[in-house]
Amino acid sequence: MTDIATDTGAGPFRNGPIYLDYNATTPIDPGVTDAMRPYFAEHFGNPSSSHANGTAPRAALAAARAQVAALVGAAAGEIVFTGSGSEADTLAIRGVVLAALTDDPTRWAHGRPHVITQVTEHPAVLRACEALHRLHGIDVTYLPVDTDGLVDPGALADAMTDRTVLVTVMHANNETGTIQPIAELAEVTHAHGALLHTDAAQSIGKVAVHVDTLGADLLTVVGHKMYAPKGIAALYVREGLRLEPVVPGGGQERGLRAGTENVAFAVALGSAADLTAHAIAAGETERLRDLRDTLHDLLEQRLPGRVHLNGPLHGRLPNTLNISIDGLSADALLADLPSVAASTGSACHSGRTEPSPVLTAMGRTPQQALSAVRLSLGRWTTHASVTAAADALGAAAAVT
Ligand SMILES: Cc1ncc(COP(=O)(O)O)c(C=O)c1O
Repeated sequence: MTDIATDTGAGPFRNGPIYLDYNATTPIDPGVTDAMRPYFAEHFGNPSSSHANGTAPRAALAAARAQVAALVGAAAGEIVFTGSGSEADTLAIRGVVLAALTDDPTRWAHGRPHVITQVTEHPAVLRACEALHRLHGIDVTYLPVDTDGLVDPGALADAMTDRTVLVTVMHANNETGTIQPIAELAEVTHAHGALLHTDAAQSIGKVAVHVDTLGADLLTVVGHKMYAPKGIAALYVREGLRLEPVVPGGGQERGLRAGTENVAFAVALGSAADLTAHAIAAGETERLRDLRDTLHDLLEQRLPGRVHLNGPLHGRLPNTLNISIDGLSADALLADLPSVAASTGSACHSGRTEPSPVLTAMGRTPQQALSAVRLSLGRWTTHASVTAAADALGAAAAVT
């Protein structure tokens, strides 16, 4: 990790607003930029080439795969690079279901495969499930969540059938930071002979993530949430699982995702994985949690009785604070406050004015959801920046 800022406006944010939108995307760590740069220029070769130009890119790709694998406790051969988190989710969900359909057609003589997910998933998962229903007649169950956004493992057990091939539940929610009980859900899933996929886009880099501890058979890693560029991600695929490829073609990525590999970006993801592992070992989780709780306390002091947490007090990503503030529109608040970059819901749908489906699924009223601000902290967030943000948000909300 390079150059942690010591004050507001420093690091990658010089002259910009106070950046509290790390769940939307992170800046690229300068160490990551340095690591990837040679693969745009001197090491431009195709990793599949047998001549000298292929050697360095091939080695770099292998090293990057090992770095990503190490971060999640996997073997290098279990990591498939993809072009986005959405693509990794699609490879997992579509890949498992279509492989089940084609590998054992007699099993489906009297009913279609069944997938279980839950209502607060990212659209990358929800739309992949919908497409399987629309195109292949797959049955999909959407489990509800409680007021903290949590899935009940008992409800999962009740929903499992002998046709269930996959359960896909995110590790942590992008809007509220709610961390799902993945290990328990995996136990239920495996007891019924199905596979578990978890989208760990938001948890990686903020808390330790280990595929065996979670019991995940498939796990999504997303670069632009962990200080690598947008447009690179990975899917962990437990050894021995067969998936239908997301891109058939030239056989790259174990035949699951064809296309000449984006070596520079894979190197970036590997480098980001290394930096993330070091940051977590050095106490980044605790540092973020302290800053996040300071921000929460300061806002409660400045807006007494008006601040309501969305998501559990404990069992939440250490960097995420989603609060509804009584009596205001979050969109109007942030529009009037250019000094703070934050979000009013999932940034993937910015521009939308309907209440967040994640918050309404958790039982918030439309009005409570429309007054919700998501503040997400990261590598360059400091005590000075959270204090300044609390001052600015508190003053703006106080007059609304
Ligand atoms: C939980 C989660 N999953 C998947 C994605 C999609 O990742 P990408 O933008 O790389 O497709 C995001 C990005 O917002 C996310 O937060």
